[in-house]
Amino acid sequence: MALWGGRFKSEMADIVKEFNASIGFDSRMYREDILGSIAHVTMLSEQGIVSAEEKDKIIEGLRSIEKKIDAGEISFTVEDEDIHMAVESRLIEEIGDAGKKLHTARSRNDQCQVDGRLYLKREIDEILRLIFGLEDVILEKAEKYADSISVGFTHIQHAQPITIGFMFMAYFQMFRRDAERLMDTRKRMDLNPLGACALAGTTLPIDRFRTSELLGFSGPTENAMDSVSDRDYALEFLADASIGMMHLSRWAEEFAWYNSSEFSYIAIDDSYCTGSSIMPQKKNPDMAELLRGKCGRVYGDLMQLLTVMKGTPLAYNKDFQEDKEGLFDAVDTWKASLAIFAGMLDKTEFRMDMIEKQLEKGFLNATDIAEHLASSGIPFREAHGIVGRMVRLCEEKGCSLEDLGDADLASVDARLNKAMLGDISIPACVAKRDSYGGTAPAEVRRQVASGREWLESMVM
Ligand code: ARG
Repeated sequence: MALWGGRFKSEMADIVKEFNASIGFDSRMYREDILGSIAHVTMLSEQGIVSAEEKDKIIEGLRSIEKKIDAGEISFTVEDEDIHMAVESRLIEEIGDAGKKLHTARSRNDQCQVDGRLYLKREIDEILRLIFGLEDVILEKAEKYADSISVGFTHIQHAQPITIGFMFMAYFQMFRRDAERLMDTRKRMDLNPLGACALAGTTLPIDRFRTSELLGFSGPTENAMDSVSDRDYALEFLADASIGMMHLSRWAEEFAWYNSSEFSYIAIDDSYCTGSSIMPQKKNPDMAELLRGKCGRVYGDLMQLLTVMKGTPLAYNKDFQEDKEGLFDAVDTWKASLAIFAGMLDKTEFRMDMIEKQLEKGFLNATDIAEHLASSGIPFREAHGIVGRMVRLCEEKGCSLEDLGDADLASVDARLNKAMLGDISIPACVAKRDSYGGTAPAEVRRQVASGREWLESMVM
């Protein structure tokens, strides 16, 4: 009979046991569950609710169970139902009657929330470390490619020349926001639900501030009913993970494009590609594609929990047991994706010979010319029209803007001549885009230095 079986005449049907059990997935949190129990019984003994001897016995029993689980000596079955009852029933087996006092003034409703929050705090720290590792690779590459010029696109059309370092620093900002968002989520979830009990607190003289201190939470949650009903922390994490995966997926998409024979801007290292079982020549960017695909999976995890929560009344409902698998999946997927992406990025070099050929196409310096004319007093809207006509002339003649001579320019606008355009070579245009946040090498170096400063303040 289950630990809660007193009022039941008969056992659960086997099929119900299977359907009801969460042990198949929540056993992942056994360390957190045991940690929570140790803090709980320590507080119970300090409050005179259990004796010091009982507390010592319970803690010793819990530690021994933890060691056995670590060593793979305990195997769980659906009879255990969930990790909370699995540990409690093992404890009673191990130390006898004293073990029956552990569940005083707590419920699985608050317990599963303590475990979930402790687990997620630890995983968030791990994910932050992975993001910082990726940022480090990005900074290194940004520095290396601070002067290297490539094509900047809008609408997947050649737009303006940019430095590759600049493009790296754009992604740096995205991942920095991911880290900051995660730290913010962590702060909000750093409250201890233990002692909320089933839904309404307890008549026993517990000290929730003490268990909070023992478990490293900044304090207890404020309202017991909210504590057992709330899954916002998991939803926030899943939203963070979805945004983080979206960033990885966007860059992965660019990797797949840049690696194609049409672009050939990069060659993804062999160690991050796979082959084809039929086409011997193939080298496919599977990691980039999988990263894109796994983003969809994490969005699914978020949508699943949002949908589970919608329409659930206060307080605990068994629906909430469905909060875990998607959460674990998102944690695993995001961690693996960050590691894969950082590894792939680290090994990727840009093929400047191929990129240079593209710089001649698409009139990348058109805006620079218009801005140059504007700085010599022609209103920008007029300058825009003049350069537009220059582009049309180039298309007719099959040449680039640099090739237009004095006569061509005068035919576009009487005020124009070649000297007036100044240096419109691509490197000169890039060097002049030095507005704060711009693409000029000097400005990229400033961005790298500021990014480095932030990163160092994070990983101290
Ligand atoms: N295993 C459950 C969960 O993960 C916790 C148990 C609460 N169950 C209950 N009948 N009060 O959500």
